[in-house]
Amino acid sequence: MTGRVADVWPVRLTGLQVAAGALTLRPVRLSDARRWSRTRIAEEPRLRPFEATVTERWADRHAAVRWPALCLSQRSAARRGVLVPLVIEVDGKYAGQITLGNVMRGPLQSAWIGYWVAGPFTGGGVATGAVAQLVDHAFGPMRLNRLEATVRPENAASRAVLTATGFDEVGLIPRYMHVDGAWRDHLLTVTTADDHGEAAVARLLRSGRARWSG
Ligand SMILES: CC(C)(COP(=O)(O)OP(=O)(O)OC[C@H]1O[C@@H](n2cnc3c(N)ncnc32)[C@H](O)[C@@H]1OP(=O)(O)O)[C@@H](O)C(=O)NCCC(=O)NCCS
Repeated sequence: MTGRVADVWPVRLTGLQVAAGALTLRPVRLSDARRWSRTRIAEEPRLRPFEATVTERWADRHAAVRWPALCLSQRSAARRGVLVPLVIEVDGKYAGQITLGNVMRGPLQSAWIGYWVAGPFTGGGVATGAVAQLVDHAFGPMRLNRLEATVRPENAASRAVLTATGFDEVGLIPRYMHVDGAWRDHLLTVTTADDHGEAAVARLLRSGRARWSG
């Protein structure tokens, strides 16, 4: 019932082509510090409304010196099988991150999925392609049964990504998370292995929104 950690980490998912370019999902690494810091600081206005409240200065929280501790703790969690922390590259360039978190085994076999894409790479199917690939990995080699994502109702772009990759909106969770300085309602969206009759990437290929490269 359970995918062995050694079978699913480290993972590198590659070969999917979307309108913005060729996608690669690969493990976070220490050498991402400067790119992570520069991108996260530049993207503050787009990210802050949808991410957990940051009480210190955004620039301090995302200084390059903060990356090694964060990266090492994520990689340690990945080795224990509870996190899948990946960078999204488009044509080899750092374009964002996508993560499976709180991977639960036993009777739940579940995880949440979260992601962000930098402004210059948005609108070209990057998030949709990345989520589709990670969903297929979760229901394939990781053998999970359920994935969930929580999204603010006003986040139309993220809701479109989740719908395109097979997530159903199952309800509104009032005051779910402290985001951008206040408790915010979130929609709970879910997809299960049983819903996954047609793999998420296959659905994108069939609708012409992605193709395999090479
Ligand atoms: C949400 C986000 C990940 C989308 O990334 P992206 O690479 O641009 O996503 P895609 O191009 O794959 O898909 C975006 C979809 O949203 C749609 N969209 C974009 N802006 C929209 C808007 N204002 N209203 C409605 N739909 C919108 C696009 O048309 C597209 O749908 P389509 O493929 O059916 O046309 C990115 O904008 C982001 O990082 N936002 C900030 C962080 C965030 O919201 N993270 C998710 C938290 S749940």
